[in-house]
Amino acid sequence: MPVEIKVPALGESVTTATVGKWLKQPGEAVKADEGIVELETDKVSVEVPAPAAGCLESHVVKEGDEVEVGAVLALFEKGKTGGAAPAKAASAPAPAKAAASAPEVKAAAPAEAENVDYDVIVIGSGPGGYVCAIRAAQLGFKVACVEKRATLGGTCLNVGCIPSKALLQSSENYHAAAHDFAAHGVVLEKVGLDLAKMQARKSEIVTANTKGVEFLFKKNGITWLKGHGKVEGTGRITVDGKPVTAKHIIIASGSDSANLPGIEIDEKVIVTSTGALELSSVPKRLVVIGGGVIGLELGSVWNRLGADVTVVEFMNHLVPGIDSEVASQFQKLLVKQGFKMKLGHKVTKAEKTKSGVVLTVEPAAGGAAETIEADVVLVAVGRTAASKNMGLEEAGIELDKRGRIVTDAHFSTSVPGIYAIGDVIAGPMLAHKAEEEGVALAELLAGQAGHVNYDAIPGVIYTWPEVAAVGFTEEALKEKGVEYKTGKFPFLANGRARALGMTDGFVKVLACKKTDRVLGVHIIGPSAGELIAEATMAIEFGASAEDIGRVCHAHPTLSEAVKEAALGADGRSLNI
Ligand code: NAI
Repeated sequence: MPVEIKVPALGESVTTATVGKWLKQPGEAVKADEGIVELETDKVSVEVPAPAAGCLESHVVKEGDEVEVGAVLALFEKGKTGGAAPAKAASAPAPAKAAASAPEVKAAAPAEAENVDYDVIVIGSGPGGYVCAIRAAQLGFKVACVEKRATLGGTCLNVGCIPSKALLQSSENYHAAAHDFAAHGVVLEKVGLDLAKMQARKSEIVTANTKGVEFLFKKNGITWLKGHGKVEGTGRITVDGKPVTAKHIIIASGSDSANLPGIEIDEKVIVTSTGALELSSVPKRLVVIGGGVIGLELGSVWNRLGADVTVVEFMNHLVPGIDSEVASQFQKLLVKQGFKMKLGHKVTKAEKTKSGVVLTVEPAAGGAAETIEADVVLVAVGRTAASKNMGLEEAGIELDKRGRIVTDAHFSTSVPGIYAIGDVIAGPMLAHKAEEEGVALAELLAGQAGHVNYDAIPGVIYTWPEVAAVGFTEEALKEKGVEYKTGKFPFLANGRARALGMTDGFVKVLACKKTDRVLGVHIIGPSAGELIAEATMAIEFGASAEDIGRVCHAHPTLSEAVKEAALGADGRSLNI
């Protein structure tokens, strides 16, 4: 007669736990007090022991499930000697839908087998992958990272965040020297542009960063397996066809630029972000398809350097998901800088001519088509998960409709021992989200309570002014039916912003009407990307708007605008 193994009392005020790794599989013999399953709470990670020697009959819950104290975890037969332990996973690949069906039986990871080459192999060395590799090495794992590029660091360091920020800074300096210095009494006879030098500076910064990751790998004893990684099954991958084994396999392959049907990217005239970072001359007319983060950041670079920039955006507002008040202010400020906006429009055709490209553009809601001529076209309509040509589906790894790897709350894929993090799984495609996932996963693998708070992930757009946000927008709170109060403070009333001559924008703090807890902060203005860190910390720590308002902020700083907006949620801003 099987007995029920239940969630034990886990401490005062702890009522639920997350099911961690199953240490015993159905049919497996278990000694008295031997760990059967791991449970995790915010405070502790515990192993639930067998009540006596016997045999584990079945799992009742699956890894990643939330369970209450007293809930049944497994059925257990006392005294029974049990059958053989399940076959080692290397010879028994899991079915494709294993993660979807509960209760699930996972094959044991081959690490329990000996003779694996590594404890952890990470495929992909972007911010998710390389940070995960470092944290895993810090925790004592023997780690390798597979990367096919000639340099480490993935899209972010090589052709994304870092080179774009280098060009954004250089182009901002150029624009300021040409247009803003005079207001400070700094008179320049002539401002010239040396684009080749600007691009060389960008490349040096990229090299310093990618070499930096190489150094960190050496420092932490991480092996760089150079080549294309392909997943074979639990514990097994190949790198350029050569087999390598590991206890844990982590896929951190990132994302690729999305394209539109019928538009052929050549990275010279019709470019993605990669080509837009490499232009050797300033295009006279740049058309950006997609008014999202990439389109507006790279559109800003070339607009500041003298291009005539037109943004064609499918929606009636810029940047998916941002606060609508911020979006409309942002649009006004970009138009003031010379951007032309064609919102609510889509590109249906792109024809290359001798002198450039002719684009056919139609209203998204239907209507008469028109043509726009461009010297360069930037396609920035989103990114797609990089999950192709890696043997994932053949290995039984479940993908969703958008090609993203399906994972549970602990980043496990549908195949035991294989995990995924970053852009290749669901969630915002942000380097810092991937990093947090990498750290959390390495800690989970080491038996710690790694965790990512998805409600406290900031987003930043590095335009002028910058746009930054964390937490919920007003629109999201309304949709959720949460009652909230708003505090708003303009940079025009901030002394430091005035001294800098950077008074565009505002800070908006959204707090719960009942509890005053900060639910969202939205900033458009100078250094918004730095100011959002305070707001993120407030949300992470469950702070109230009053908590921010009572913290002493140095004067004169831009951060005082955050404090004033927080005070404003209670109707008591001081300087407005
Ligand atoms: P996005 O999702 O931010 O914006 C794409 C835009 O293209 C959307 O506004 C969408 O409505 C529009 N669009 C889609 N199809 C269209 C069509 N046929 N015609 C006209 N418009 C169309 O994607 P983006 O800018 O390509 O960035 C990709 C990812 O990279 C995003 O997840 C972004 O967050 C991330 N990223 C983040 C950065 C940062 O944190 N600063 C910098 C660069 C990229």
